[in-house]
Amino acid sequence: MRFDILTLFPDMFGGPFDESIIRRGQDKGLIQIALHQIRDYTVDRHRTVDDAPYGGGAGMLMKPEPLSAAIESVKKLNTEAAVLLTTPQGRPLTQKLAQELSLKPGLIIICGRYEGIDERIHQHYVDHEISIGDYVLSGGELAAMVLVDTVTRLVPGVLGSDESALTDSFGDGLLEYPQYTRPPEFNGLPVPAPLLSGNHAEIIRWRREQSLKRTAERRPDLLTQAVLSDKDRLFLKTLGVSNVS
Ligand code: ADE
Repeated sequence: MRFDILTLFPDMFGGPFDESIIRRGQDKGLIQIALHQIRDYTVDRHRTVDDAPYGGGAGMLMKPEPLSAAIESVKKLNTEAAVLLTTPQGRPLTQKLAQELSLKPGLIIICGRYEGIDERIHQHYVDHEISIGDYVLSGGELAAMVLVDTVTRLVPGVLGSDESALTDSFGDGLLEYPQYTRPPEFNGLPVPAPLLSGNHAEIIRWRREQSLKRTAERRPDLLTQAVLSDKDRLFLKTLGVSNVS
């Protein structure tokens, strides 16, 4: 998977992209990330990337010409890529959307700045507008990092077999069950007995029930979309939960 990121602040990406799983994905040749400075696509002496909105109002907009030149140029390097724009007006980023995006041949991500970008860039180039949550960041860079991270985890081979993305929270629409490691008792709190039982079937059942319980308590909205069995529904009923998928 090739990611091309268009930004006014390429230096912001150094830390997150040089560590851990994203680093490993690049080292294994499974993902490639190229950062592009939008300002390099200006043609005026002041390297202007923003301008005042028609009709007035606060703030500045990103001008269309440098963005358009940057996108056209990067499309030649990532020919089949989907073009994404990070913006609070976008579709909420979920695990399902990350899975969809991980199947694209490549991604070009435009990081919005200032008060937004000229609408004609949206119309002409952008396939998906994506928000990472209902809050306003100073710019799209942090959102682009989140997007690259979550999609990278889903690229086959990036995670080791012991880190499978399949057991992540949201993989099946549920939150993850609680996890414990040694010692068997800590601060007076014991590890739950099923995990120490050595009985594999019992462990699987306990974990599933804990996932269901946690999701019902913390994110009941997820239960209407989750993939549930009859056994799951029966268990949820014992918790007093019935409005499920
Ligand atoms: N840019 C500013 N806020 C954002 C958000 N919540 N998601 C994506 N891009 C953004």
